Amino acid sequence: MTLLEGKKYNIITFGCQMNEHDSETISGMLREKGCIEVPTKEESDITIINTCSIRENADKRFFGTLGQLKKLKKKNPDYVACVCGCMMQQEHVTDAIKKKYPWVDIIFGTHNIDRFPALLENVYSEKQKVLEILDDREDIVEGLPSKRLYRHKAFVNIMYGCNNFCTYCIVPYTRGREKSRRPEDIADEVRRLVADDVKEVTLLGQNVNSYSGVRADGSSCDFADLIYILNDIEGLERIRFMTSHPKDLSDKLIQAYVDCNKLCNYIHLPVQAGSSRVLKRMNRKYSREQYLELVRKLREAVPEITISTDIIVGFPGETEEDFEETLSLVKEVHYDSAFTFLYSVRKGTPAAEYEDQIPEDIKHERFNRLVDIINEGSAAKNAQYVGRVEKVLVEGLSKKNENTLTGRTEGFKLVDFPGDKSLIGTMVDVEITEGKTFSLAGRIR
Ligand code: SAH
Ligand code: SF4
Ligand code: F3S
Repeated sequence: MTLLEGKKYNIITFGCQMNEHDSETISGMLREKGCIEVPTKEESDITIINTCSIRENADKRFFGTLGQLKKLKKKNPDYVACVCGCMMQQEHVTDAIKKKYPWVDIIFGTHNIDRFPALLENVYSEKQKVLEILDDREDIVEGLPSKRLYRHKAFVNIMYGCNNFCTYCIVPYTRGREKSRRPEDIADEVRRLVADDVKEVTLLGQNVNSYSGVRADGSSCDFADLIYILNDIEGLERIRFMTSHPKDLSDKLIQAYVDCNKLCNYIHLPVQAGSSRVLKRMNRKYSREQYLELVRKLREAVPEITISTDIIVGFPGETEEDFEETLSLVKEVHYDSAFTFLYSVRKGTPAAEYEDQIPEDIKHERFNRLVDIINEGSAAKNAQYVGRVEKVLVEGLSKKNENTLTGRTEGFKLVDFPGDKSLIGTMVDVEITEGKTFSLAGRIR
């Protein structure tokens, strides 16, 4: 029996899919130690907050939640409060926690998740707080367990870190430099997942297009090569990936969409801004014209491809003319969907020092104009689906109605349709009967 046997844990996750996948790994490791997951922090002996440094208000919500842990600590002498994730890689944050939130027992970073169970055992045996933030490290730890959020779809990290240093972004500082896993390790993991009922994998990396793996025989394997390898895995039905940086999207990858039947005809291709001047200041390394050319090539090769994007509004120095270029690009590309962000200062990044910051009211006003155009575009795109039959991987029951199933089309569109829960995890043909702004509705054919 381990020190952790029978302890109840709850994980609160604030960030992106990579952050969520880290939580799946933490959960998998704790279960291996005999811990039991509970749905709320109030029921837990161990709470882990996995933080994000980008998402709007994630920091406020994080400190709010951290405050609430004090009560739990008072009630339960054995209670352990843990914080991890991207914010912990920022020294001003860990300093603030040490000063203002003394009830936190463990702080760990994004480079030592594998060490967490050992840190936790240490806290139980020595009754001592632990703070362990490693700098970027060379090796990649393979073989960590994972408790998946979804039974039939899984996230698979193919690489860690980012080398791009977009001037607004904190990720290169919180996640370190790019490191790619070996293609054999990735393929083995996907095979194990398929054996455990997984039908769809999403390959994760901050910029999957710069994946650069080394095979066991020493030869190199780029991202498109990796897709071809995974496409051959029997039993796997769908491959997706996030995120693809436009500057590194190769013709070879576009060809992989044509050749690989399991690669879904969908791409998330963050543009960030429609003005080449702003893109340059963002250090994105492509122009508006180059981005539009990529979209043209993708659609030429794969006419039915769906495209989503990320856009930042109010980057320092963005003029009304620059912003209108974003609006015109959005109309020209006609995205299926888009995530919009108000630019916000991240301490330690170059753009935080730029003097021409945009006033909040102007940012909001532009943001609202942009969102209206995006939503109109999404609704129009979704309306075109009415009458079509789409292959849908049934993911689960709809939250609103338990006689309704929910799943995604190949193009990543959410569809609700009546059906029995025995269909969860299977592929069904759904005839689309309604296109809404953010989803579709249909019936099984
Ligand atoms: N690696 C991915 C994105 C990771 S961050 C890529 O390069 O596409 C997710 C999104 O958060 C980014 O695409 C960007 O739109 C947004 N973002 C990052 N830093 C931001 C900041 N300081 N202010 C506002 N939005 C930001
Ligand atoms: Fe951030 Fe740019 Fe790296 Fe994406 S590519 S994680 S936006 S620095
Ligand atoms: Fe993801 Fe947020 Fe970190 S978006 S990489 S969890 S800063």
